[in-house]
Amino acid sequence: MSSAASLQIDSEGRLRHLLTTEGLGKDLILSILETAESFLPVGKRQIKSAPLLRGHTVVNLFFEPSTRTRTTFELAAKRLSADVLNLQMESSSKSKGETDLDTLLTLQAMGVDVFVIRHPDKGATAGFAAEVGNEVAILNAGDGANAHPTQALLDAFTIQRHKADFGNLSIAIVGDVLHSRVAHSNIHALKTLGVPDIRIVAPEALMMEAPEQLGATPYYDLASGLKDVDVVMGLRLQHERMHEKKINDLPAYHRDFGLTRDNMRLLKPDAIVMHPGPINRGVEIDSEVAYGERSVILEQVRNGIAVRMAVMAMIAGNRQY
Ligand code: CP
Repeated sequence: MSSAASLQIDSEGRLRHLLTTEGLGKDLILSILETAESFLPVGKRQIKSAPLLRGHTVVNLFFEPSTRTRTTFELAAKRLSADVLNLQMESSSKSKGETDLDTLLTLQAMGVDVFVIRHPDKGATAGFAAEVGNEVAILNAGDGANAHPTQALLDAFTIQRHKADFGNLSIAIVGDVLHSRVAHSNIHALKTLGVPDIRIVAPEALMMEAPEQLGATPYYDLASGLKDVDVVMGLRLQHERMHEKKINDLPAYHRDFGLTRDNMRLLKPDAIVMHPGPINRGVEIDSEVAYGERSVILEQVRNGIAVRMAVMAMIAGNRQY
């Protein structure tokens, strides 16, 4: 088990931080999904709040850009009645040479309870979790190409709401899996939940290392990878993480690996189309697929609030003062 996987669980087996889906037990994941289900109605009420985090302070520290993760974490914390701060990194004292850890420790000294952190470096959030005090929880909102655990949990939640039983599903994850923290976190979560057929579909240049070791099967041809799947998950080309292996010919990439109305015919008739966002229309997915009848992409965004509420509420409930 990685250090992140062991750091996030307390001595009684409860969630203390959320750093990775690796090593999270099936019962724990299912209990997060069940708690998220109980929070969904809060978002439909006129007064969209519950008092569970009243008096708690949540800080969003995003060292990389984000639209949906940052805002849904903020909404989730506010719907639980927490006080929320969003540090604007570009106007912070980082520009004067303050390290990221010193930024965190400075905010911790102000009595912050939960840090939601996105960072470009793999393992950064686990590194922070090892440094903070017992009273502070770290939630990984994406660390490099490593992990994005709440995205995988909201994806699992969305799949469960459409497909009920993980035990007979075929799921294709298509695109730039090499640089995708979403793919890595999803494979761990879906495997633990008992999905028997996880397909990783990518050109050779963007295939992750040894997917078989994680219980997934590599496919280098889109048509075979999509054949009769229940769920297809598209991924964006992460140009910002491509250093050696680059994809420059976007029309060719779209022709060979793009999700189009045409190749959607290969899926099972009731299959759903997912994407963590942001999407690049006409590259990895066409507009009519992203906003077509099979798409649950905006539902994923909405479900992200309930799942993030669940994670924050559970961790707050597990805390020892
Ligand atoms: N899915 C996701 O992480 O999107 P953002 O980068 O907009 O947060």
